[in-house]
Amino acid sequence: MSNETLKTISDRRSNRSYKPEQITKDELDALLKAAVEAPSARNAQPWFFSVVQDVALLDEINEDIAMNTQKEKRDVFYGAPTVIFISGDDTNRWAALDSGIAVENIALAATSLGLGSVILGYPDHSLLGPKKDYFAKKLKFPEGTSFTIAIAVGYAKDTKAAHEVKGEKIAYVK
Ligand SMILES: Cc1cc2nc3c(=O)[nH]c(=O)nc-3n(C[C@H](O)[C@H](O)[C@H](O)COP(=O)(O)O)c2cc1C
Repeated sequence: MSNETLKTISDRRSNRSYKPEQITKDELDALLKAAVEAPSARNAQPWFFSVVQDVALLDEINEDIAMNTQKEKRDVFYGAPTVIFISGDDTNRWAALDSGIAVENIALAATSLGLGSVILGYPDHSLLGPKKDYFAKKLKFPEGTSFTIAIAVGYAKDTKAAHEVKGEKIAYVK
């Protein structure tokens, strides 16, 4: 069985190489619309979306990650021109899950528009680290929220095959 939505789900990939050109305002608006249209537990919408297109700020986060992980500095955003950071309400026990649903909405919307994306958990090494409050302010996270997940978006340079499904993941319980 196939349709446009199922094809978009199948076509999504994590892209780790991007052209330098910025996505359009219309594309960004469409991604953010898809984000806020996501379902959330009790419709609490316990999320906030911070759009970053400032290379210097992304570099500062890369620097901080390198320091906190004691690893060589690398671009954890893969040169993507736009990164959307999601922060979740600290008091909402579904905030991480709801953020995950919202971020997948963004990823699928990106695929549907011909954009590449990659969901990023790794910035937690900075955004939940010793400089958490400093970066929360820079990223305009509302008070009482913390980083949950991010997604880098842009025009992808790389292509790859779909990931293989590992092992038996489905049981039919009768
Ligand atoms: C919650 C989550 C966190 C992730 N964090 C990272 C990350 O920090 N860096 C990265 O390169 N990929 C990250 N990924 C992408 C996964 O590595 C990727 O989804 C997986 O390898 C399957 O590949 P595919 O997305 O192309 O199907 C993350 C994915 C998820 C769902």
